[in-house]
Amino acid sequence: MKMWNSFLSRSLLIIASLILLCSSVRVRSQLTTDFYHNSCPNLLKIVHQEVKTAIENEVRMAASLLRLHFYDCFVNGCDASVLLDGSDGEKFVGPNLNSARGFDVVDTIKSVVESSCSGVVSYADILAIVAKDAVLLSGGPSWKVLLGRRDGLVANQTGANDGLPAPSESLNQIITKFNNVGLNTTDVVSVGSHTIGLARCTTFNQRLFNFSGTGSSDVTMNTEMVTDLQNLCPQNGDGNKTTSLDQNSTDLFDNHYFKNLINGKGLLFSDHTLYSSDDEAVSTTKMLVESYTNDSSLFFKGFANSMIKVGNISPLTGSVGEIRKNCRVVN
Ligand code: HEM
Ligand SMILES: *[C@@H]1O[C@H](CO)[C@@H](O)[C@H](O)[C@H]1NC(C)=O
Ligand SMILES: *[C@@H]1O[C@H](CO)[C@@H](O)[C@H](O)[C@H]1NC(C)=O
Ligand SMILES: *[C@@H]1O[C@H](CO)[C@@H](O)[C@H](O)[C@H]1NC(C)=O
Ligand SMILES: *[C@@H]1O[C@H](CO)[C@@H](O)[C@H](O)[C@H]1NC(C)=O
Ligand SMILES: *[C@@H]1O[C@H](CO)[C@@H](O)[C@H](O)[C@H]1NC(C)=O
Ligand SMILES: *[C@@H]1O[C@H](CO)[C@@H](O)[C@H](O)[C@H]1NC(C)=O
Repeated sequence: MKMWNSFLSRSLLIIASLILLCSSVRVRSQLTTDFYHNSCPNLLKIVHQEVKTAIENEVRMAASLLRLHFYDCFVNGCDASVLLDGSDGEKFVGPNLNSARGFDVVDTIKSVVESSCSGVVSYADILAIVAKDAVLLSGGPSWKVLLGRRDGLVANQTGANDGLPAPSESLNQIITKFNNVGLNTTDVVSVGSHTIGLARCTTFNQRLFNFSGTGSSDVTMNTEMVTDLQNLCPQNGDGNKTTSLDQNSTDLFDNHYFKNLINGKGLLFSDHTLYSSDDEAVSTTKMLVESYTNDSSLFFKGFANSMIKVGNISPLTGSVGEIRKNCRVVN
């Protein structure tokens, strides 16, 4: 009897733990790949086609669209808050002003989606799907996008100013900002998206002339590249001029970005710092940079894994938030 009792209580304990485990798993993975299976069966096809058209019109749009998903997710989670207009819009703060782009393309994609399935697909999900197609159409990997996010009701300028990483920041500062949204040091390297797209002089010119008050350029930057960039971005020149983040292949999503870092050809200080930094974490990031340089498929796998993690940052689900009708204003 005693033995039976202890067997029973042990079984109950196991069952209880299993139930707990299952419910906690459900909390962490509320998003599903087939969320729109019935409500918008052609969603993925429609978005893919629209992203393809947008990139055919302007190849840089792939980079701009990919960046939007990241900038959305880092502020209040993946809730399309980055798309909101209005004086408190995230669009208008430092990291985004005169920089974030692709909003018109998102408007177009949503309107095509609406004409096929009205009022059911969130902008937050559209940004997540768009990011995947932008990478795939640029020669990068694909992944199964988790869906079921809803759109937020507020923008958060403070969150954008404090939460988004800046190009002048140290490795530790960047890692802290990633940690704050549940991402780790591996993710910092794996989301190596600066293999496509452009950056403005103002985001890297502090490395060119009097770096940290040294009176010279950043000595860790390749000297030919310094000269080229000094010509492109003279002191007191136009800070809005742009150049390729990956000087080797601007529009191709490949692992050459990592090789650039090893060769002193990372454009932003924040890129360079993944390979060369005084911060202790560099032993981890440097090793990853080397692995990804050596093995493109390892980078692609790591990238896809980290992008899924980015897409899982604090989604609004169930009846929280809304399905926004116009990306620029709440309903
Ligand atoms: C590690 C921290 C990061 C920093 C400090 C950073 C910073 C920047 C900066 C300063 C630019 C140029 C913006 C301008 O010229 O105004 C840029 C461009 C870009 N970033 Fe990042 N970024 C980071 C991480 C990411 C991540 C995680 C992604 C995507 C998942 C991403 C995707 C892009 C893309 C694709 C562009 C080019 C955009 C275009 O051509 O329109 N970045 N980033
Ligand atoms: C804005 O972001 C900050 C920092 O991430 C957070 O503490 C705050 O609650 C957010 N505010 C709103 C209104 O969402
Ligand atoms: C980061 O998280 C991934 C799982 O998503 C794990 O494989 C990796 O080892 C972690 N990296 C670090 C440095 O903890
Ligand atoms: C470089 O910056 C330092 C500190 O900001 C300043 O004292 C110095 O005059 C600058 N040198 C040049 C050549 O501009
Ligand atoms: C870039 O251009 C915008 C207007 O398009 C202007 O307001 C801004 O001051 C310029 N920024 C820099 C760094 O020159
Ligand atoms: C990019 O790098 C590859 C391999 O190192 C090289 O063959 C190619 O010429 C480079 N392309 C450009 C545009 O620099
Ligand atoms: C990458 O390849 C180089 C050259 O073959 C080798 O020296 C290095 O150990 C490799 N690094 C990693 C992390 O795989």
